[in-house]
Amino acid sequence: MIFKRLIAIVAAAAALWSCGGAGNRVQTIEGETITSPDGHLKLVFALAQDGTPMYSLDKDSLKVVLPSKLGFALFDNGGDLQTGFTVKEVTRDSFDEVWEPVWGEEAQIRNHYNELLVALGREDGTAMNLRFRLYDDGLGFRYEFPVENKLTYFSVKEELTEFAMTGDHTAWWIPGDYDTQEYNYTESRLSEVRGKYEGMRIHNASAEGFSPTGVQTALQLKTDDGLYLNIHEAEVVDYPTTNLELDDKNFVFRTWLTPDAEGVKGRLQAPCKTPWRTVMVVEKAVDVLASRLILNLNEPCAIEDVSWIHPVKYMGVWWEMITGKSAWSYTDDYPSVQLGVTDYSKAKPHGRHGANNENVRRHIDFAAENGFDAILVEGWNEGWEDWYGHKKDFVFDFQTPYPDFDIAALNEYAHSKGIRLVMHHETSSSTLNYERFIEPAYDLMNKYGYNSVKSGYVGDIIPYGEHHYSQPLINHYLLCIKKAAEHHIMVNAHEAVRPTGLCRTWPNLIGNEAAMGTEYRAGIHAGHATVLPFTRLQGGPMDYTPGIFEMDMSRIVPTEHGKMQMTIANQLGIYVTFYSPLQMAADFPEHYQRFMDAFQFIKDVAVDWDKSVYLDAEPGAYIVTARHPKLASLNKAQESVATLKDGKKNAVSGAAKYVYALPENATTADLARAKARDVWYVGGVNDENAREVLVAFDFLKPGVNYEADIYLDGDDADYEIAPQSYKIEKRTLTSADSLTVRMARGGGFAISLRELL
Ligand code: NOJ
Ligand code: CA
Repeated sequence: MIFKRLIAIVAAAAALWSCGGAGNRVQTIEGETITSPDGHLKLVFALAQDGTPMYSLDKDSLKVVLPSKLGFALFDNGGDLQTGFTVKEVTRDSFDEVWEPVWGEEAQIRNHYNELLVALGREDGTAMNLRFRLYDDGLGFRYEFPVENKLTYFSVKEELTEFAMTGDHTAWWIPGDYDTQEYNYTESRLSEVRGKYEGMRIHNASAEGFSPTGVQTALQLKTDDGLYLNIHEAEVVDYPTTNLELDDKNFVFRTWLTPDAEGVKGRLQAPCKTPWRTVMVVEKAVDVLASRLILNLNEPCAIEDVSWIHPVKYMGVWWEMITGKSAWSYTDDYPSVQLGVTDYSKAKPHGRHGANNENVRRHIDFAAENGFDAILVEGWNEGWEDWYGHKKDFVFDFQTPYPDFDIAALNEYAHSKGIRLVMHHETSSSTLNYERFIEPAYDLMNKYGYNSVKSGYVGDIIPYGEHHYSQPLINHYLLCIKKAAEHHIMVNAHEAVRPTGLCRTWPNLIGNEAAMGTEYRAGIHAGHATVLPFTRLQGGPMDYTPGIFEMDMSRIVPTEHGKMQMTIANQLGIYVTFYSPLQMAADFPEHYQRFMDAFQFIKDVAVDWDKSVYLDAEPGAYIVTARHPKLASLNKAQESVATLKDGKKNAVSGAAKYVYALPENATTADLARAKARDVWYVGGVNDENAREVLVAFDFLKPGVNYEADIYLDGDDADYEIAPQSYKIEKRTLTSADSLTVRMARGGGFAISLRELL
């Protein structure tokens, strides 16, 4: 073992101490270094005079993270797990591999980094290692506690990881919170967070902030030097999710973990490791979108047979409940209901129950006619009469349908049309209750042929006092994902923790909400969708539920006011901008029937890709993306229904039919011919300022003509005045072409391109 003590070099000269934004902070440390594979990023690790571990990060000549402290405050062992360390051993490694995600933005992902592992120890036998991985686009580091350790069981009071910024950067942030991520994004300088914080907090069924300068991961930043930084976390397992607490005098962030019901911010037992802390550093905004840092830091796929996992394009009996047109509940007779006690057969239906046989069949028909894979049905099960606001433990059993939802017949009908029903498990945040019933609930899904579940966590968590992002809840969400995998069930969890790349390991986690989604209707600011791919989507796909064509809520329910702040072309653009293997067309069939030519794009667009090109972007302003569909995944959803029906296969799947513009009676031979054609999709989303973007098509195959369907904001389109104004143009384009596209206020655009044969 090499015994070394690394001392932070605090050169006596005052020049090394900033008098500017970074306050009285040491500017440089010297110690162990690694560089990124391309040599541009440099990580330095050193121990301060008192044995506190520190790190800094530079990009070429620019400082990115000033020397920042690492360590913990504990409830036990004397409290201090920060000072008094010496370096026991330093190990370097490098790694370069290409892996293939089960679904994703590209077929192959390169995982290429240089690694520094620093084993730290104290005289009393306490051991703590720091593992740093430096990529071309950023840094990941984590704490590891080896088994040979004086520390065995310990409880975290605070994780003291710092990220010292070099100045008053621009940030795109949402308020820090232990229970919700459902906030609009704000763009401001770091020094302005405190002043804007209160204004950004909105009501949510469960919310708990902790500081007027607390913000959430993933945090997008831009420096005055033009660097784009992103602070996030990867592989949050058996550990709470962190917020970032900003010292807004010195522009230093510190991890602020979510406490459990007893105020403990992590109960650890060696050997163990924390999640990765990540700092992305890139020169262009599009490179944030192209980064695979978070996925790369997660473990490879843990599921051996992934043949049952597939992308899903779905519709739902859902928007009608969200808009208030219908209800999740069945009756007004019983304002209070109890599992196994309430007899619904005696109840008078109130007539507004959305999940009734006839309505579900109507949705199945429309979805089947238009090439979708699945229909989500919420409010199918007993218990919705008092599901919310009472902190009930035994709220649902996830197994007993309402009298007007014939679970066997509806699934059979759906399967006969090549559609799967999507199960819905609103837990009402009683995780105790969900774990109580999860086995029989998943068995029921297997029995009737459901292969995906949308779960939800509305309200305060039971066990009482827990938070949505505390360690026990992190463990709960993963338990559900693992159990679902055993049952070959894909998961889309709403209100659960924001993803941190676990979908690499558990690709049956095909979606999460974990941000403000379309359900907020008029409450979503125009431009929100131009931030999410930089922040929330860094950790994994989002079930944003786009595709709203009727923005005026009063046209659905006269007493509802408010107009959604986007245009139809914006909604189309989201299908390409937001990567998700699970995409919803959220609006009503009757709204799509009014605009079938625009709806065509939603029918056509693929949801899984082998190549993505991020053409142009600026957080909070606009994003333009081009994507190439992954052919292998196009038939998978339909094949899964076919397998269910004893191998009786539809010749060509709905999705493939539309992607390749095949006729209804197309054969697999037609599909094979069509697949020889190259297909691309381009999408743009915009904020509240009208703008023009130049789209160069140099990503297309050279020398080939493509027929392009171009869906644009109409000349008078504007989210406030004319949200439904759009126009569709047809053109022939080649890789030598470029188009100037105008996006309206709250607007966007979408293009599908097919090689002309
Ligand atoms: C909140 C979810 O985000 C929404 O999609 C769902 O419909 C409701 N909870 C009811 O479960
Ligand atoms: Ca929600």
